[in-house]
Amino acid sequence: MSPSESTITNSGIISDNMVLERDQDIPSSHIPVVDLSNPDQELVARAVVKASEEWGVFQVVNHGIPTKVIQRLQNVGRQFFELSEEEKNAVAKPDDSREGYARRYELDLERKTGTVDQLFHNIWPPSSVNYKYWPKNPLDYREANEEYTKHVKMLSEKIMEWLSEGLGLWGEAIKEVISGEYMMIVNYYPPCPHSDLIEGLDPHTDVSGLTLILPNEIPGLQVFKDDHWFGLENIPSAVIVIIGDQIERLSNGRYKSVLHKTTVDKERTRMSWPVLVRPTNDMVVGPFPEIIGHDNPPKFKHIAYKDYIYRKLRHLSFADLDS
Ligand code: OGA
Ligand code: NI
Repeated sequence: MSPSESTITNSGIISDNMVLERDQDIPSSHIPVVDLSNPDQELVARAVVKASEEWGVFQVVNHGIPTKVIQRLQNVGRQFFELSEEEKNAVAKPDDSREGYARRYELDLERKTGTVDQLFHNIWPPSSVNYKYWPKNPLDYREANEEYTKHVKMLSEKIMEWLSEGLGLWGEAIKEVISGEYMMIVNYYPPCPHSDLIEGLDPHTDVSGLTLILPNEIPGLQVFKDDHWFGLENIPSAVIVIIGDQIERLSNGRYKSVLHKTTVDKERTRMSWPVLVRPTNDMVVGPFPEIIGHDNPPKFKHIAYKDYIYRKLRHLSFADLDS
């Protein structure tokens, strides 16, 4: 699978240990689940901060996005992927575009990777949206995505507010830097007879600021912590939140950009709907000056988001930059 902005493979950092772990039992019960409807919102905020510090991933339930809105989004996405290849290619991704439909499914038993088809399109702000890349079939694809966009944006803003306050900063601090653009991805992992040998997405951290994922009912997302892979438990209507590289950098490493990967199922199709919340290309991202001091020296350099992506995709070092 060729690397894309959302699915950067970090093969350079995969240790032998991680490979050995893949066939062992995968516990799931430890990954934090936060009930956002708890009336004690201070407690909720602390749980979100703690999960981001310790795991870089958590699930949220009772998050305010109506189940109907979620189901509708998932229905139109599934209907699109069930179209013929020719019909899907109506929104094919050009080489020079980040958006569109890309068939990446290629079984490579040697490399043990590569079984996902993907659709990418921006959903926010309106000036970044190009409907050319939004499927016209099914007919209500656009409406379903626009409805979900409103809700997922609100949820992401709440989470960014808690994370900003967790750093002792004003509520909009993180949002101001990382929420320039929202991109929808639809991942489609067809059943794979070699699911024991093959992974869906290789281990990677998300280059974005924050990723909010809706999976379908087939489990498959795993995260890496303390030398183990942990599978995410399937909780109907929950949203999975992943801390991406840019929040890790802003927080000077306090919030963890979690390493994760996906597996595929032998018989059933797995799908997922990540929304990437990310800075605009020219936004310079590095540790907030307010949190840096003698006791907390900067661990990351300041760099424009587009240059960060360029270097990460090519596995280039960041060491030569001025901080
Ligand atoms: C991604 C990703 C996870 C999933 O698209 O970057 O990690 O559950 N997806 O499909
Ligand atoms: Ni990812």
